[in-house]
Amino acid sequence: MNDEEIVGLAMKNGFLIDRDAVNIIKNFSDKREIDQVIKRAGKFLKDSDVVITPDHINDVCELENKTDLRIRYDTNVCKGEYEEFTDMFIDRYRRLGKILKRRLPASAIKNVKKRGGGSDIFVVGMVSNIQKTRNGHKIVEIEDETDLMSVLLPKGSDVIKEDLLLDEVIGVKGSIKGGQRNILIADTIFRPDLPINRERLRSHGKIGLTSDLHVGSVTFKEDSWKRFVRFLQRDEEVAGDLDCIIVAGDVVDGIGIYPNQERELSIKNIFDQYREVANLMEDIPSDIKVVISPGNHDAVRQAEPQPPFPEKIRDFFPERFKFVGNPCYIEINGVNVLSYHGRSLDDIIQNIPGSSYNDPVSAMTQLLKRRHLSPIYGGRVAMSPGEKDLLLMEDVPDIFHCGHVHTLGIGRYSGTLIVNSAGWQEQTSFQRERNIEPDVAKFPVIDLESMGIKILDFGG
Ligand SMILES: [Fe+2]
Repeated sequence: MNDEEIVGLAMKNGFLIDRDAVNIIKNFSDKREIDQVIKRAGKFLKDSDVVITPDHINDVCELENKTDLRIRYDTNVCKGEYEEFTDMFIDRYRRLGKILKRRLPASAIKNVKKRGGGSDIFVVGMVSNIQKTRNGHKIVEIEDETDLMSVLLPKGSDVIKEDLLLDEVIGVKGSIKGGQRNILIADTIFRPDLPINRERLRSHGKIGLTSDLHVGSVTFKEDSWKRFVRFLQRDEEVAGDLDCIIVAGDVVDGIGIYPNQERELSIKNIFDQYREVANLMEDIPSDIKVVISPGNHDAVRQAEPQPPFPEKIRDFFPERFKFVGNPCYIEINGVNVLSYHGRSLDDIIQNIPGSSYNDPVSAMTQLLKRRHLSPIYGGRVAMSPGEKDLLLMEDVPDIFHCGHVHTLGIGRYSGTLIVNSAGWQEQTSFQRERNIEPDVAKFPVIDLESMGIKILDFGG
């Protein structure tokens, strides 16, 4: 752009710009970027100012440098030994137990059993068995590192309504009747949960969340996706301000993921599927950062945590794209986004009464309460065991993002924004059989300053 055009662009945005600022701004690559810098510089103007100076431009650049992403994920190599599972569960107990013990004056189960009768007894343990009795009570076995004990959830009580899951770590307050040392009668159940009264963080910029393109399937909505990318190229108001797009897995439909899948594939080679995704994504404007993690349809190991795409696949994509593992913490402008594909939502929906594919937010809330991305062991999620339980949610996310279930969900729980980003695939035969009506081509954009959310619709 020449000087005059830059001055004109500034005026269009309602600002004047001095000659030195024009000289700096000339070095930026294209009109779109220059327009953005002007808009952002405008935000640094004091009330009575209208002239953008080099100082304002420098402020923008400084802020831009600070917006760099910080990405954190961890994958392990499992040797397949039994001890790895034991280590993983011990680690889970210790770290989730620690969160609970900060709030509860818990005693070791061994000591509680030794002491015998009493009330207001607190213990922290991992659920190892759940049984219903003939007369309508529930008996739950919990275990800590010293011993195990039975917890009675009396019929008709509030605690029996708690949806306890095998392998979750809970705190129990209750009483023991004299002579029944092994049975704690529960009156309150505690979960690790998110801390309350979190300070609202201050940030800036915008991020977009998406997932589940399923490219290669005949049901992938290619026209909607193309409309979306065109929007990113042209729109100034929303897309022009977008710092980053996070893609939470299932970018392709994959091969051999479910029986007779080949009948529903338009691209039958896995590498061709990825080549096509790369084509469809490469026109996303280069100033928007793109972070991609895998899901259960992608060509990486199924066991979670899943590693990033292998180099052979990454090479199809523009170099600026970032490939991460599943799950992944993505810190952007100080906001902590936990992005997880969401396979375990199948287990939650199956095991917690009242959950459904139409309400991903409540299933995701169940994960937040348990501070674990896959609390049930032995369900749909294959876990790669190791010294540490890598699906444990040690850090509290500001935004919790999943996909996988193909229904759009927006909610808030205890200061965390919950988003399920649905997908770009029309109803499949699998979904038809189960009465699941997917949300298609909806794109949630979050304003990190206000934590407000806007849903853009590219369907139709
Ligand atoms: Fe999935």
